[in-house]
Amino acid sequence: MSSFPIVRPRRLRMRGALRRAVAETRLHPGQFVLPVFVVPGEGLRKPIGSMPGHAQLSVDQVALLAKEAEAAGIGGMIFFGIPDHKDEVGSSAWDPKGPVPQAIRAVASTAPELVRWADVCLCEYTSHGHCGPLRGDIVDNDSALPLLARAAVVYADSGADIVAPSDMMDGRVGAIRAVLDGDGHTDTVICSYAVKYASGFYGPFREAAESAPSFGDRRTHQMDPPNAREAIREALLDVAEGADMVMVKPAGPYLDIVHAVRERVDVPVVAYQVSGEFSMIEAAAAQGWIDRERLMLESLTGIVRAGAGIVLTYFAMDAARLLEEVK
Ligand code: PBG
Repeated sequence: MSSFPIVRPRRLRMRGALRRAVAETRLHPGQFVLPVFVVPGEGLRKPIGSMPGHAQLSVDQVALLAKEAEAAGIGGMIFFGIPDHKDEVGSSAWDPKGPVPQAIRAVASTAPELVRWADVCLCEYTSHGHCGPLRGDIVDNDSALPLLARAAVVYADSGADIVAPSDMMDGRVGAIRAVLDGDGHTDTVICSYAVKYASGFYGPFREAAESAPSFGDRRTHQMDPPNAREAIREALLDVAEGADMVMVKPAGPYLDIVHAVRERVDVPVVAYQVSGEFSMIEAAAAQGWIDRERLMLESLTGIVRAGAGIVLTYFAMDAARLLEEVK
């Protein structure tokens, strides 16, 4: 094997066009999914303090944004709803006139190329902010399942391509698949948040979605950050229950997990660059401490290099524009 001075790895790095030609990882706007927060009403854009550039949007505003997203070549949008009314069981989650079903229908007609993702969870809809009905202080797994499935059917009825359960109840993928199929929605895709950690990185999201738990936390159902083997177990269980894709979340601090899951399943692997990952970059950039655009693309490149084929990211619009420029 030859080595220096015959071999000089720097040769392949001498100019941009060459570096692009030998790049092992490429980002494409079509692999980005933009999360949006939908509120009831009209003409509303309520800025989210901890997430610069993002706002809670009424359905008409979501439709406008969807047109832009489609024009930018972004792959899809995932919807989170903030309802007018919250109760113990989260019944607004399956209201066909709720913000998410309305947004799905609006986007289907104004930006039909976008893949429409519906997050399925009850935490935005329950008065206590937990991911399902409570028994004592704990979310009651088995009674949450039919409620999650009911919400998934309403989203599928509205035109969602993908339902994405983020609740982390055991058995929910199988329960949702059975109810969807029983209702004729055999082609609706399930992307499970199979590997979702109990993470401090969700902080800004809980302001955005008004879904902070009123007491306690989510550690009895979301995964414990030290565990990696357990991630494989969760992913394999969800695939066995019928998940068409699996998600790892957060992304940046869990790249080892993205990689490990990629090696062990044959379905598409999705990663969610969550609100805290986004807000940290924005905050440091606002201080002038880092180069925002550079970190945006570098953080996304790392996630794709680790093995994610699809990335949910609050940078979707800006990253798509940047990629268009460097082309
Ligand atoms: C639950 C849900 C959460 C996120 C996506 N779906 C929050 C949570 O589990 O508390 C977090 C996403 C983010 O931080 O960007 N419906």
